[in-house]
Amino acid sequence: YQTIGVIGAMKEEIEQFHEHMEQVTETVRAGITFYAGGFHGKNIVLCKSGVGKVNAAVTTQILIDTFGVDAIIFTGVAGAVDPELNVGDIVVSTECLQHDMDVTALGFPRGTIPYEKTSLFVSDERLRHLASQVSAEIFGGRVKEGRVLSGDQFIASRETVGKLYTELNGACTEMEGAAVAQVCSMNEIPFVIIRSMSDKADGSAEVNFAEFTVQASENSYRIVDQMLKQL
Ligand code: ADE
Repeated sequence: YQTIGVIGAMKEEIEQFHEHMEQVTETVRAGITFYAGGFHGKNIVLCKSGVGKVNAAVTTQILIDTFGVDAIIFTGVAGAVDPELNVGDIVVSTECLQHDMDVTALGFPRGTIPYEKTSLFVSDERLRHLASQVSAEIFGGRVKEGRVLSGDQFIASRETVGKLYTELNGACTEMEGAAVAQVCSMNEIPFVIIRSMSDKADGSAEVNFAEFTVQASENSYRIVDQMLKQL
């Protein structure tokens, strides 16, 4: 790849990349700061999208149009949905779905975007394989490939997270990945989402999120750091 876009939603999720970048040029578009520069000798464009699907979508389209990125990696934290996952564990996206897309009143299944070819946006195979491989090297068995569910909701209830697992087969839930994935698919740009679990999206999620976000962000950084070395 010529230029790789690296997105995180929050400061914690991008600050280590920023510290290790070289020859950084800053550009502001739509109120978002884009840091273009070198990282392990590769050209990357790093940015903090802000939280939620709209921020993630706008950021992704700007990375593609203005900075000409030819691949996008999202790095950050998520709530675990698969009951086998614990705080600190890693999810590498196989595909992404917007769990808050709800046109069930018109007969569409939950998560389905009406009149589109697909609502499941599939990760790039090469990026996914590399992410899983380096994740396994660093974190051993605490890594799963699976479906990333995104919605403009912080999930913090056992009942809600249970449905995300049983009805939508999610591995984890967060607030940006499926928006990045949809925009990448619309533009035919390869992507992968890498998330380390900060919480279990249950009754303890707020407390755990506050406690573990920094460590989980660091986990995700270590994976993307190794990926960028090997790409
Ligand atoms: N990001 C981290 N934890 C989350 C949760 N429980 N819900 C949504 N986004 C999250």
